[in-house]
Amino acid sequence: MKVVVTAGPTHEPIDPVRLIGNRSSGKQGYAIAKALQEAGYNVSLISGPTCLKDINAVKMTRIETAKQMLIEVQNALPADIIICWAAVADWAPEYSPQKIKKGSGDPQITFTENPDILKTISNHKQRPKLVIGFAAETQNLIENATAKLHKKSCDWILANDVSENVFGTDENHVYLITKSKQEDWRAMSKAEIAQKLVAEIKDYFK
Ligand code: C5P
Repeated sequence: MKVVVTAGPTHEPIDPVRLIGNRSSGKQGYAIAKALQEAGYNVSLISGPTCLKDINAVKMTRIETAKQMLIEVQNALPADIIICWAAVADWAPEYSPQKIKKGSGDPQITFTENPDILKTISNHKQRPKLVIGFAAETQNLIENATAKLHKKSCDWILANDVSENVFGTDENHVYLITKSKQEDWRAMSKAEIAQKLVAEIKDYFK
């Protein structure tokens, strides 16, 4: 079966030297791609800028912006499963082709909303059979994540409690939320979460 995984942050350029980014390390998404590859899936990983190495036998595509990520995800279809784990920037600043110079007052940067990749693929004519997203929340985790499941028309959400120490670490705490169940997976390593997700996917397609 073919799986597309997105991972890492996106970088949205302001000018040739500056950008808007976020603190995603890509570790959880890469761990998921690796576990799926080891379980025999045909994996395409579409990654924003990270310090992580390519994964053996995984088709790697590296991009910078949300718009580039959407194009590469669409190019990777058809697929049986998509796991949108990237921390996609919500907005892109208006790009200045020349470096913005100091000295003429505070710059006014305008933003436009980026495409929502998860939502786009959930409503795509080539929608994979299983569409999985995540929800990073600091409060009302289950309510917010369940609302996201419906808003984005995806099948499963892994809700991520980011009030704990998650960014760049090897530990994570997620809840699996589907239309029919909610499970607390407790705190465990990102590699263990990846294994548990692979087991859940195998069970789904049994
Ligand atoms: O809306 P929010 O960013 O909280 O949703 C998180 C989920 O949506 C993640 O699965 C993320 O990969 C996906 N997402 C996306 N494109 C965006 C924003 C979020 O695919 N522009």
